[in-house]
Amino acid sequence: MKSSDRLLLENKAWAQEKLFIDKDFFRRMSKDQTPEFLWIGCSDSRVPANEITNTDPGEIFVQRNIANLVVNTDLNLLSVLQYAVEELKVKHIIVCGHYGCGGVKAAMTKKSFGMLNKWLHNIKDIYRIHKTELDGLSVFEERFDRLVELSIREQVFNLAKTYIVQNAWKHHQRPTLHGWVYDMKDGILNELCQMKHDDPVDEIFRYDF
Ligand code: CO
Repeated sequence: MKSSDRLLLENKAWAQEKLFIDKDFFRRMSKDQTPEFLWIGCSDSRVPANEITNTDPGEIFVQRNIANLVVNTDLNLLSVLQYAVEELKVKHIIVCGHYGCGGVKAAMTKKSFGMLNKWLHNIKDIYRIHKTELDGLSVFEERFDRLVELSIREQVFNLAKTYIVQNAWKHHQRPTLHGWVYDMKDGILNELCQMKHDDPVDEIFRYDF
């Protein structure tokens, strides 16, 4: 059997199992979605949003890219963000990074990855901002772990810098932003930071409404 055929077969088994547990599951799913969460995670195959949070379809609106970045020119991410905040009215946005992230590791090297360099520049900039702290860590693994954490925090700030989030904060006092890190060694998520509607945003990034 081809590996792709296995996925189709597994899908049928999964759908049957869902129906067995809850015969209305798909009828309910096909009506509408009302997720409370937007998840901005890494594309890494080992960090699937629903599986590691033990949630069902319908519970999390998901955007994934290499190294879970929030880039202010990324039309894809901004469209997802706007739709999640303004139409789905999510209560929480979770930026979830992970230790051992290949994207972060690649950005720490001098290797050229072609087009991908442009994407990784965003992480190199974070390294530049925190160079003193990072260069103070002599062990590569420690520096790597710390850059993963610093990048997650920076992505949360990047969300707070957007008009979309500031507008929702001003008028609806939501969403709460979370920076989470996932450890593949034990499967555990930890919260690194949180930002709410009344937390200060750097003045230069603040918009008038
Ligand atoms: Co990653």
